[in-house]
Amino acid sequence: MYQVGQEEIDAVTRVIRANALFRYGVGHECERFESRYAEHLGLKHFALAASGSNALAAAMTAVGLGPGDEVIIPAHTYMATATSVLSVGAIPLIVDIDETITIDPKAIEAAIGPRTRAVVPVHMWGAACDMDAIMAIAERHDLIVIEDACQGVGGGYKGRKFGALGHIGAFSFNYFKNMTCGEGGGVAVNDDVLAERARCAIDPCHFYWQGRNDDVKPFSGNGARASELMGAMLNVQLDRLDGMIQAMRAEKTAILEATRALGNLGLKATPMNSPESDCSAQVMYSLPSAEAARRFSELFPCVIIGKTGRHTYTEWDQVLMGAGAAHPAMNPFNMPANAECRKTYSKDMCARSLEILDRTIMVATDPKHTADEIADIIHNIGVAARVTLAATPVEDAEFRKTRPVDAQKFDLKVDG
Ligand SMILES: Cc1ncc(COP(=O)(O)O)c(C=O)c1O
Repeated sequence: MYQVGQEEIDAVTRVIRANALFRYGVGHECERFESRYAEHLGLKHFALAASGSNALAAAMTAVGLGPGDEVIIPAHTYMATATSVLSVGAIPLIVDIDETITIDPKAIEAAIGPRTRAVVPVHMWGAACDMDAIMAIAERHDLIVIEDACQGVGGGYKGRKFGALGHIGAFSFNYFKNMTCGEGGGVAVNDDVLAERARCAIDPCHFYWQGRNDDVKPFSGNGARASELMGAMLNVQLDRLDGMIQAMRAEKTAILEATRALGNLGLKATPMNSPESDCSAQVMYSLPSAEAARRFSELFPCVIIGKTGRHTYTEWDQVLMGAGAAHPAMNPFNMPANAECRKTYSKDMCARSLEILDRTIMVATDPKHTADEIADIIHNIGVAARVTLAATPVEDAEFRKTRPVDAQKFDLKVDG
């Protein structure tokens, strides 16, 4: 969440004053946002939902995943990527990330087995997955690609928008995302039938409001309908999105250019799959060791990616415990149809990912940063690098004032 102001207050107030809080037949904000955001993505359809988790589950339902299917997901993502696979009765197969901190295409290919039906590239922290390689693998092995673009709002890959690169995509608009209405999400897709199926998963009664497409047989599901308050706020947020992403890209470029020379000390910029198109919500550096990352983070306000406390498979308790549903008969781990799926997890199964995550740090960009603040960030990265990586003694006074790390930006617990 970067900016919420009077425009959002006005938009939400208009909806309340008009007593038009329901999206079908009463208000038009959700519908307007869906068509505007689909156009922004370069797709035919966008279906709003109550959350990114609902949107992911709806996308998996739409493409027909279910018991008997394995779905490849990365070791580093929020747990909803894994739990949404379980919610449709399928089994998540967890594979390594690479230095880009996104899913390793080589690990995808190595993991494919007779039961593998889909892969979920996650554009983690707004950084792009290697979509060319992933789509080529998917084509070779007939896999469905479901993009988890929940952290990738506003970004893209090689000039195309996240969510429009795979067969179907899911977004989150929760409080921590680049565009927000508090909670919310949605499914992005070109195919008419998949769009109808996603809408049915989001709201099994949507046919009543929107009419029936004869090609799509209705099925039952849980409701996750968005309200007009969400649509109204998102319409304002969408107007802000491109400007915010451009500001963050400019900041990232300035920081990387200014700190390039520090590579000689061992402060290497993390390789990116599409640095010119991604969200640029932070600058990432791959340090030589976890110890160097720890010392650096004590001197400079940044986040060690492996230490957020909940974005790595080792922290997905329900998955590791085999608790795939509340009722034992609905638990995909117990289902006879999943007998041949691989479902053994251990905390050290993706050790390479853990090693990378523990030595990769993120420095937050922010559209609200001033030129002076950016200059201070650059200066302080340099001081912290010299102390950490070249063992140069430093006086406290050498650091200029910067803001403390923005916990909200990184989706972390905020004190108090
Ligand atoms: C990568 C990823 N996938 C899925 C989700 C789920 O989104 P939501 O919190 O809107 O349910 C999130 C949310 O943080 C996420 O970061």
